[in-house]
Amino acid sequence: MKKMSGLLFVIITSLVLILAACGTSKTNTKEEKNGSGGEEKKTLRVVTDAAYAPFEYQDKGKIVGFEIDFINAVAKEAGYELEIVHVGWDPVFIEIGQKNADIGISSITINDERKQTYDFSLPYFLSTNKILVPEDSDIQNAADLVGKVVAVQKGTTGDAAVEGILGKNHKDIKKFDDNNLAILELINNGADAVVADNGVIEAYAKNNPDQKLVVKGDGTTFDAEYYGLLFPKGSELKAEFDVAIKTVFENGTYSEIYNEWFGMDPDLETIKA
Ligand code: ARG
Repeated sequence: MKKMSGLLFVIITSLVLILAACGTSKTNTKEEKNGSGGEEKKTLRVVTDAAYAPFEYQDKGKIVGFEIDFINAVAKEAGYELEIVHVGWDPVFIEIGQKNADIGISSITINDERKQTYDFSLPYFLSTNKILVPEDSDIQNAADLVGKVVAVQKGTTGDAAVEGILGKNHKDIKKFDDNNLAILELINNGADAVVADNGVIEAYAKNNPDQKLVVKGDGTTFDAEYYGLLFPKGSELKAEFDVAIKTVFENGTYSEIYNEWFGMDPDLETIKA
């Protein structure tokens, strides 16, 4: 009898140990699937205004674009999973301001005014405002916008630049929540020009040749701008993402993604300067 219970004890103990081992190995597999093999990756909420092709836009219900590939590469490097959500331009700033989201990515220009309320990553893209006009327009530069109706996306650096030329809240500035609506206004003859980031309007003119639009630059009026990731003020993610951004600059991943979307090499020296 004593012998029997001893055997039973051994059997039960072994069973418990085997089951425990199964449990552990299951957890390990899950962690391994998630990457690092250590603790599970945290999923960050990333907010965007996915109406700014080729940087972020929706294609068959999926959010795609240069910046989507970029942030995925950076997050992978930093060891995070991402949930990228289209919320619109103003809500990006509201959500980050209220710490409802971890990161905003939306071709967001780093500037002093925004820096007072938010933190930015290192700059990762060089841009400038330019003017989208019909081929037969007499608008050649920024000064020519005086006396014209100009469509912009509200609250962008393009909006601010046009206010600098026409005057704050001038009646001839038509402001839209979404940059595509500003372009639509131009196509429907409700505006004479759109001022927005060069990457967006250059791609639009090129991809819609039937609309006969051209892009005019003005380096004396429109500043060089740099895009950064937007963080809530004091976010600990900034330091981690800056390290990861430097890595994708150095290891060729950034250039690869840039080439895929823009068909040329990035000017990394200027971006890093
Ligand atoms: N770079 C400009 C800015 O920061 C425009 C960005 C607009 N981005 C967008 N996804 N609509 O003001």
